[in-house]
Amino acid sequence: MTQEKLQQIKARALGEIGKAADQNQLQNLEIKYLGRKGELTGVLRTIGELPQEERGRMGNFANQVKQEITAAIGRAREVLGGKSGGLEKEWIDVTASKSKRSLGHLHPISNIQYKLEEIFSSMGFMVLDGPELESDYYNFEALNIPSWHPARDMQDTFYVEPAYRQAGEENLLMRTHTSPMQVRTMEKYGAPVKAIVPGRCFRNEATDARHEHTLYQMEGFMIDKNISFANLKAVLEVVAKKLYGEETKVRLRPKFYPFVEPGVNGEVTCFLCKGAGCRVCKKTGWLEIFGAGMIHPDVLRAGGIDPARWSGFAFGFGLMRLVMLKYGIDDIRLFCGGDLRFLNQF
Ligand code: FA5
Repeated sequence: MTQEKLQQIKARALGEIGKAADQNQLQNLEIKYLGRKGELTGVLRTIGELPQEERGRMGNFANQVKQEITAAIGRAREVLGGKSGGLEKEWIDVTASKSKRSLGHLHPISNIQYKLEEIFSSMGFMVLDGPELESDYYNFEALNIPSWHPARDMQDTFYVEPAYRQAGEENLLMRTHTSPMQVRTMEKYGAPVKAIVPGRCFRNEATDARHEHTLYQMEGFMIDKNISFANLKAVLEVVAKKLYGEETKVRLRPKFYPFVEPGVNGEVTCFLCKGAGCRVCKKTGWLEIFGAGMIHPDVLRAGGIDPARWSGFAFGFGLMRLVMLKYGIDDIRLFCGGDLRFLNQF
């Protein structure tokens, strides 16, 4: 074997590669010259038989030819691109490392929502969904909050401009709480009824570490014969224990909500200090997690239910606050801020 022979192979190979019309032809040329039984491979095999003094030089030269042919095939492949019988479309580089596709996970608010849905479903409550764009009637009027009532100031929201409403259409607003579903549910299902309603609410808030303009709540209510405050406390105690542990206690203190009578705010033993008093509970040992009360007779009437025959309780959890308390999160704005460093911790 001589250097000229290698030169000839190279010249022939490069010429044929230059004329290749598609990827199939290129593949055949690769096999013809570089394949296991290829011309160049055959030559490379014989190098070991050469006299010692020629072996190194010829070896180097043959390898150089091999590299040039390989590079020419590579370049031609790129130039020809998709011109082929479709082979390159099926081509898989089995040596390439698998691309990492990281899976997302549930948001901590969804987690607590699903956990609560599970707890309440196990007690026979329906899980309902309500409209986020709500009428003034269901959000306020039907809940005993007429337009002149100062309680409206506690929940300012985003109203739909009258100019965007059709004639005769109701006043529309972004719901400020999940409570409008109380009357909607009474109208649809009558009594007795037990339901929870998780969902997004909106308030015209100057946001701070504990207040968001877009917040998540979960309403719950139960209407039946002889429902009393004791039933309210019993149900909420079960929920608090399941969420925060068996030793958790519930404390109810009077609070005014126009749609319940009497009304309370509900607190649970601080999850961190177990009631001893700490930074999280501001040294009280208790943490506020919901508003609740016995459904006002006017609200039952608005839902078409006779308050002389039926009674019920209702409550509203702030889902974001529940998560904040569970994990000791000190700023509510982190939830919807989209910062992955925060979200990836859950
Ligand atoms: C209500 O919204 C009543 N609808 C709750 C209720 C239902 C009372 C049924 C009685 C019967 P309040 O405005 O207090 O109440 O809100 C309830 C919870 O929502 C609060 O305890 C808090 O956890 C959460 N919340 C209220 N405003 C915000 C806000 N701007 N950002 C985040 N969470 C909020």
